[in-house]
Amino acid sequence: MELPAPEQLKQSLYVPNKTLMGPGPSNCTQRVLDSLSNPVLGHMHPECFEIMDDIKAGVKYLFQTKNTATMCISGSGHAGMETAFVNLVEDGDVVLLACTGLWGYRAAEMVKRLNGDVRYVESRFGHALSLKEIEFAFEGHKPQVFFIAQGDSSTGILQPQLKEIGELCEKYKCLFVVDTVASLGGVEFLMDAWKVDMAYTGSQKVLGAPAGITPVSFSDRAIARIKARKSYVKSYYFDALLVGQYWNCFDTPRIYHHTISSTLLYGLREALAQFCALGRKNVIHRHQECSHRLQCGVEEIGLEMFVVKANDRLPTVNTIKVPAGVEWQKVSQYAMRKYKLEISGGLGPTAEQVFRIGLMGANATYERVDLVLNILHEAIQSTKFVEKSKI
Ligand code: GLV
Repeated sequence: MELPAPEQLKQSLYVPNKTLMGPGPSNCTQRVLDSLSNPVLGHMHPECFEIMDDIKAGVKYLFQTKNTATMCISGSGHAGMETAFVNLVEDGDVVLLACTGLWGYRAAEMVKRLNGDVRYVESRFGHALSLKEIEFAFEGHKPQVFFIAQGDSSTGILQPQLKEIGELCEKYKCLFVVDTVASLGGVEFLMDAWKVDMAYTGSQKVLGAPAGITPVSFSDRAIARIKARKSYVKSYYFDALLVGQYWNCFDTPRIYHHTISSTLLYGLREALAQFCALGRKNVIHRHQECSHRLQCGVEEIGLEMFVVKANDRLPTVNTIKVPAGVEWQKVSQYAMRKYKLEISGGLGPTAEQVFRIGLMGANATYERVDLVLNILHEAIQSTKFVEKSKI
């Protein structure tokens, strides 16, 4: 018997308009949203290739790189992470993972599936890693690949000294992989000058494009390592040499690799165009100013930032300690129910312990900072009051 068409699909689509001030996605601007309603193009049409070339140029500016192997992966930020390891790791390779929060451990889950030899260098809770701690780990483990998240969205930790870490990687002949999903556009990042071999970022954070398409870039050194692999890259979909041919990165004809979403390309192109028009340094400066204002406001309403040193705080994802006697879920639910505003709780090592407030892209404005501070304060007071009235 034929299954009937589902009843719920007879209803029209309803999507509430929320203010997304968690760790991402952030809100898209109207320009980006409008671009998504353009007609769909074929993935091998010349107009689609032209948009891909525009994106490549924007991504090179974003990462500050001249790498020819600069492209996008069809998938979320996790796909960027998977692309890094599936291309750069072979059986038995020692991969040193820096952990300042959840993302080093998430990377481990991928590296283990590739039979990589996983090692860790873990920071103290609420702190970034010091160069000394990292160098000590290099000496002990002699890794072939080193991974670090510039900004860990679970803890709100910003890892400083990437330039010096790049020099360490060069000294130890180790490939340097940097996750910039939550950080890019909120802090400085200079891929070539800092000798980063592979970087990826999120389209849905500072850029304010939809999730599902992830900018990545590989240095010539990384591409040479991939070409010298003894074994096939263990994923066809994420094979950088194949995806790179589709993105016209190498002096070879474009190939059909997969059917890219032209719709996502439009959104990313427009998000990059906005970013370029504003200027990289201005965008970074605005995010830092907004975070500073938020941190001052947090103190004024009697709360405390989670990351101990001000210099180690990621401006894009701000972590605030949940005060004693407050339940973060109630605060978060209050903000969503009454104001349709997202305030997130912790993740991984910070679960139950922090609020996470994202100041990214269209939401990195003083108005949004003041809005989220007022709502956070009101939500804490109101949910505390409910607790007391129950007694
Ligand atoms: C996603 O990036 C998160 O931190 O929740």
